[in-house]
Amino acid sequence: MRTLDLFAGAGGAALGLHEAGFEHVACVERDPSAAATLRAAGFPAVEADVRDLDYAALAGTIDVLWASPPCQAWSQANQHAQRKGAADVERNGWPWTLQVVRVVRPRWAIFENVRNARPYVDRYVVPELRKLYSHVSVWLLNAADHGVPQSRTRLFVVAGPRPVAAPPIAPRRTMRDAIAVPWDRPAPCVMTNEWKGRPTDPSWWKKLNNASDALAIATKGARRKLTLGECAALQTFPAGYPFAGAVEDRYRQVGNAVPPTLAAAVARAIRVAEEGAATIRESLPALGAFADRVLARAVALLRAHPPYGIDPEDVDGFVARHGDRLRDLVTTTLNRRAP
Ligand SMILES: C[S@@+](CC[C@H](N)C(=O)[O-])C[C@H]1O[C@@H](n2cnc3c(N)ncnc32)[C@H](O)[C@@H]1O
Repeated sequence: MRTLDLFAGAGGAALGLHEAGFEHVACVERDPSAAATLRAAGFPAVEADVRDLDYAALAGTIDVLWASPPCQAWSQANQHAQRKGAADVERNGWPWTLQVVRVVRPRWAIFENVRNARPYVDRYVVPELRKLYSHVSVWLLNAADHGVPQSRTRLFVVAGPRPVAAPPIAPRRTMRDAIAVPWDRPAPCVMTNEWKGRPTDPSWWKKLNNASDALAIATKGARRKLTLGECAALQTFPAGYPFAGAVEDRYRQVGNAVPPTLAAAVARAIRVAEEGAATIRESLPALGAFADRVLARAVALLRAHPPYGIDPEDVDGFVARHGDRLRDLVTTTLNRRAP
């Protein structure tokens, strides 16, 4: 399965796809420090603006296109952009991402975004995808339900040639499991600005804003922020993942990422859908053999009891003339009944 990853960031989604056995053709990212991380991690980074590339050469060669279009227009933190919403063409990456899909025509297109994008996605994105794909699903997945020690709900749009079931729920992992902090729940969302500010807002213990707040509660108010390594572990990046750039760049890459374990769960759902199709394809020869046996039995019955309309002297001629059609009919019927 060959993948094209747009808006690849530090490679959270890329890692998950890789873990699920997908092979990257290109990971497009314009931020120099994130692109440096991709290169250091061994991904085929293309440091460029998604809008500036010509994708024609990839047409028909990509199995999975994964895109996390910029979502500032919907992020809760960005009230101004939210008012401008979908009309904010510079910040709204969906139209140009859909244009890449139209050119590349990947077998599957997977989009990840913040949950606030749902109304826009339902109204504008799904109808466009339905023009290109026979099956389009929209899922709201909480990473905590898929083996990530963090509550992080994200929107996924999956378009492809077959129906695909959302990934199954996995056992919960807690903050204690991941970073040995005594907090027996998944961490609140790891944010891009985890590194700055202080968890000293008097309301921090009432409303958990980010993973550092949970740390502060768990350690009874010890005022320390989560380290980059701790944030990365809560996002399920492997220890020692080579984040590049200044400290704020690295925290931003971690906070922006799709948790690799969640991306892997989504990628495996695609694999399951594809393998279901492969199972049917593989079973076709067996169905053919079975059809031959059914046909042989039908011919024997025809010979023993020639029905009205068939000359008893010409059963063999009838079978010779119509055998192929009968066989097709049997195979099609069996196929229709295949899982
Ligand atoms: C939400 S992050 C993606 C996270 C990534 N999928 C991951 O799993 O780590 C969005 C990324 O898109 C990049 N980006 C935004 N606009 C872009 C553009 N026009 N061309 C290329 N990259 C862009 C940003 O630099 C940022 O790294």
